[in-house]
Amino acid sequence: MSRKIWAFPGEFRRGLRKGVRLFTIDPLRNRWYGEGYERLSRYKKKTMIDGRKEMENESGSERMIGRYVVSGVVGKGSMGIIFKGRDPYIKRTVAIKTAVPEESLSESQAQIYREQFFTEAQAAGALVHPNIVAVYDAGLENSICYIAMEFVDGNNLTNYCAKNKLLPFEKVIGITGKICEALDFAHQQGIIHRDIKPANIMLTRAGTVKVTDFGVAKLPKTEDCHTMGIIGSPGYMAPEALQHGQATQQSDLFSLGVTVYELLTGENPFASETMVEMIHKVLYKEPELISTLNPGVPEIISSVVMKSIAKDPINRYQGTMEFLFHLKTALRETRYRAEGDRVDDRINYMKSIIFFNEFREDELAEVLRIGTWFHYKKGSVIVKEDETDTTFFVVILGRVQVEREGKVLAVIDRGSCFGEMAAFGKERRRTASIVATEDCVLIKIDALIIDHLSKDLQIRFYKQFLHTLINRLDSARKNT
Ligand SMILES: Nc1ncnc2c1ncn2[C@@H]1O[C@H](COP(=O)(O)OP(=O)(O)OP(=O)(O)O)[C@@H](O)[C@H]1O
Ligand SMILES: [Mg+2]
Repeated sequence: MSRKIWAFPGEFRRGLRKGVRLFTIDPLRNRWYGEGYERLSRYKKKTMIDGRKEMENESGSERMIGRYVVSGVVGKGSMGIIFKGRDPYIKRTVAIKTAVPEESLSESQAQIYREQFFTEAQAAGALVHPNIVAVYDAGLENSICYIAMEFVDGNNLTNYCAKNKLLPFEKVIGITGKICEALDFAHQQGIIHRDIKPANIMLTRAGTVKVTDFGVAKLPKTEDCHTMGIIGSPGYMAPEALQHGQATQQSDLFSLGVTVYELLTGENPFASETMVEMIHKVLYKEPELISTLNPGVPEIISSVVMKSIAKDPINRYQGTMEFLFHLKTALRETRYRAEGDRVDDRINYMKSIIFFNEFREDELAEVLRIGTWFHYKKGSVIVKEDETDTTFFVVILGRVQVEREGKVLAVIDRGSCFGEMAAFGKERRRTASIVATEDCVLIKIDALIIDHLSKDLQIRFYKQFLHTLINRLDSARKNT
């Protein structure tokens, strides 16, 4: 029992052991404070610097946790320290999360704690997804539980929650999208995260989002939270999770909403002086609107995020993918509103797609005059099979699919056209339906007008139609 498993400065080990009992949580920042806070910070800093140095100096005597060679400290959470280590067999870098059952627990309680630890580690280990930190292994060493997991070379999102370090809202939505996908993947397998918060989401140097600590949140954390029966981080927990311990997809969505709120405003919506006040705010107080705190965030985006943190789960989105859909739609709308309605901007959009590559600017302006600019929501039926019409469409943004009798025949991407047979005057009855597979912007033109345009413009259109027909023939040949 007395064998050292890592030789960090003794002061640090003592501090850590005592620290478990001396600290409580600062509800404002969800950080540790109290008698031991200053000391722990000192220990932490000291270990991060001296500990590493010491280890480098003493390369002869290796420190091990399980089969892993410890090479440093990457962080400190409420359960214990996270170390950087190396698996000497597979030769890969790992992060090792350690947790020590509190000294106050009886042996049987400590046993339950350990069992729960491994059950949770097992559940998390089943999740293989590019945006979820992979769990490799779990073990017990001298009554310290540990989980070996993928080492993420980057920062957690708390780094972007300070008012002077906020990311642009488009980037926040991009990151949120990846978190939504990771959570949806876990939810489909019946795993609820329970502790989504900025500290549990990492961003690699290359910009990949990685969600960590799946399921681990089921373990009791601080004495304060434990005695109050709270499992999770109160500043991010859904009202129903706080009140009845209900952990569902929608309580994860709430925690994600709070995280996004913080990334957009630099403030926790329920920030309070005391834990009791914070819980009261989570349960009853409507938070300030995001767009009020940060006018740089468009109102439609603000209201989507506000809906994800509605008090009653019925008023939230049903799942993370629905949340993501509304965020993306709001983002597109802000783009159109900001730039889409001016002729110059529409011309720029048209210039950027292959169909209009060879058109001059004055010709594009002419096309805009004869055509109609449309926004279609995902799922809209743009053209119906068997309808008679003389119009054709060019996809400016988004993507559509060709369907006949419910079967998908082809996908038409941005920059391509459909319905152009109408221009040749032969086939005016639509032979297939066209459905938007995502939110789209299209320009609709009556083919009969083309013959009345300048000769140059006619040639450009017919050249593009010819390209389209050749491409279709090519892909038809490949498919047979
Ligand atoms: N797999 C990992 N690779 C690299 N660094 C990590 C990894 N997991 C966590 N970290 C870093 O270690 C810090 C501490 O993590 P830990 O999960 O122990 O605490 P926390 O998330 O701050 O709080 P909690 O204990 O409530 O989860 C994280 O905030 C993160 O910066
Ligand atoms: Mg964590």
